[in-house]
Amino acid sequence: MDNSQTLKILQDTIDKLKITKENLREMRKTNKTFPRQTNTRILDAFQSFAQFDRAPIWMMRQAGRYLPEFKEIMKNRDFFDACQDPFIAAEITLQPLKQFDLDAAIIFSDILTLPKAMGMEIIMDKEKGPVIKNKLETIDDINRIKSPDPQSLEHVYDALYLTRQALYGKQTLIGFCGAPFTVFSYMVEGETSKMFLKTKKWLYQYTQETKKVLDLIAKESAQYLINQVKEGGAQVVQIFDSFAGQIPFIDYKEFVIPSLRILLEEFKLECPTTPLIMFAKDQNGVEIIITFLKMFLGDTPLVDGFQLDSNVSDEVLVKIIESDRTIQGNLEPGVLFGTQQILKKRVSQMIEKLQTTRRFIINLSHGLTPEHEVEKVRLFIQESIRQSKLYKVREILE
Ligand code: CP3
Repeated sequence: MDNSQTLKILQDTIDKLKITKENLREMRKTNKTFPRQTNTRILDAFQSFAQFDRAPIWMMRQAGRYLPEFKEIMKNRDFFDACQDPFIAAEITLQPLKQFDLDAAIIFSDILTLPKAMGMEIIMDKEKGPVIKNKLETIDDINRIKSPDPQSLEHVYDALYLTRQALYGKQTLIGFCGAPFTVFSYMVEGETSKMFLKTKKWLYQYTQETKKVLDLIAKESAQYLINQVKEGGAQVVQIFDSFAGQIPFIDYKEFVIPSLRILLEEFKLECPTTPLIMFAKDQNGVEIIITFLKMFLGDTPLVDGFQLDSNVSDEVLVKIIESDRTIQGNLEPGVLFGTQQILKKRVSQMIEKLQTTRRFIINLSHGLTPEHEVEKVRLFIQESIRQSKLYKVREILE
């Protein structure tokens, strides 16, 4: 497909750096210099004594169907084809930054990109979301899971590289992967599930086999994140455990945490200075936070920041603040459907509560959805920035 009409934001960078489809990979492999970082708000949120004018802000699923320009570019494209074209993926990543004052870009991809490269046949159904055609049904099916062919993920690193060049240091680039449990869950359920019965059957009936698969996914995920940093130029990474809350903490700790530890340790061994944010959705109890807070590799914490849900307890907040780790979150995205009045009030309450730490990144508690309105998203961002600055001024004056 000819992309020259489509790359409305990226074209400038392509022209300046003389990047072509043919030379992109070679360029990435031989020249890893990126523009100087002028906006350091996100990276500063991971430093102990950083000064800041306001808390940084980005939103989960900030590139998505609520944006008319996203729908336009996706009109005649299959989801995974778009992910696999680094030019299109970079363009989509940049779309929200064109009109919103955001401090980070999260690469346009999916948590299913990795299992796809590991032998799962996945399509993105427009109605149902992801559907896996060869899901794991019997324990023999485990043998079908393979290490990804290194070539099969290069397009992600290409897209990251292109995006980082196009950001000109004005935003921080975030890479990501799914957590082993969430990825495993997709592998056995075959699609987004409500009850997670197959996942639970595997976990409680085929415990040893499940652990084996979780560890396998963990090792490949670690390598995938390392490559996103070293090959692509990702500056921060986030792990999405979207289904973490589907099982009680006792099982999460016994069956899931060991595989997460493998992922985190292997990542930190190679990328000790790259901040890592953990999002264990609906699993924000104090026990789990303490478990993560205790995880170190030498002097390096395995988790640098926590993406929090909107209903996080004060007890958890105190623990994180005491430990000097970063807090990210946590406005319920449904609030953006509300009146301006309630939106402003909830933003204010979030800032009063979370900006008590210097290490705060404003975000939602879950991703934006196609139902969100662009103007409400804009109001959320503007209001968050305004109130965060006011909080800072008040803090200085007091
Ligand atoms: O945040 C971002 O802007 C970056 C890109 C991103 C996508 N998916 C793009 C996407 C990220 C970080 C993800 C992660 C992801 N994908 C998660 C974890 C976060 C979460 O939401 O809990 C999960 C569970 C998935 C799996 C997935 N991908 C589902 C269930 C769906 C269909 C539902 C939906 O939201 O449309 C997808 C498709 C998907 N991934 C879209 C986008 C922009 C929609 C694609 C389209 O239909 O055009």
